[in-house]
Amino acid sequence: MKRKDILYSGKAKSVYTTDDADRLILEFRDDTSAFDGEKVEQLARKGRVNNYFNAFIMQKLAAAGIENHFIERISDNESVVRRLEMLPVECVVRNLAAGSLCRRLGIEEGRELKPPVFEFFLKNDALHDPMINESHIRTFGWATDEEVAQMQSLTLAVNTVLRDLFAAGNMLLVDYKLEFGRYQGRLLLGDEFSPDGCRLWDAQTREKLDKDRFRQGLGGVIEAYEEVAHRLGIPLD
Ligand code: TMP
Ligand code: ASP
Repeated sequence: MKRKDILYSGKAKSVYTTDDADRLILEFRDDTSAFDGEKVEQLARKGRVNNYFNAFIMQKLAAAGIENHFIERISDNESVVRRLEMLPVECVVRNLAAGSLCRRLGIEEGRELKPPVFEFFLKNDALHDPMINESHIRTFGWATDEEVAQMQSLTLAVNTVLRDLFAAGNMLLVDYKLEFGRYQGRLLLGDEFSPDGCRLWDAQTREKLDKDRFRQGLGGVIEAYEEVAHRLGIPLD
């Protein structure tokens, strides 16, 4: 697989075309951003950890029947994926209250959410990723009604698989964000799954092991990502 032109450069990943029109290469960079790109730092080893982490999770999800764009990891920082037509919405599921849910609704952090909360956000940094609903998605044509239903059921199906996976490593999956795209008439999970886009707490101490360490200036960001990888049995060398 030959890497060709840069197609898109996001806050933490770059996307390249390849000699196969159907496949792209994702490059996971060390750039770490928060607050819609307001805070950006380079954290050594982050691209590599997230690339390994994402490969592991996407393979687990595929094995559980959740189709996604991941094909293979080809280097420390790169993976090959299917080329999707991404939908401009982000799907969030929350098992415990944290982050914007607490700020918006005055709920105390850590409250158990039963059933889990599902939310849509518009992928738009300039607008700070505002929360949207199905009516907005329908009116503005961001996805079809069928795709909305599929995004909801697939995101919740991911919850069933990943809650157990993290529980086995003595962690709580607090919340996470997924993005989907169209591929040959189907909807596939795209983007990435890494500690950049989810919240993970130690099950006993509730120590934060995800990007909140960066957002809140707690330090030990990559050490925490590596700890999560270690607990899941992801070999990083
Ligand atoms: P929030 O509490 O800021 O709404 O985020 C909920 C979860 O989704 C959290 O794990 C972070 C993740 N997320 C992103 O990774 N990127 C985003 O743009 C948004 C809106 C959420
Ligand atoms: N990843 C997004 C950003 O860089 C949201 C966040 O994690 O705070 O702004």
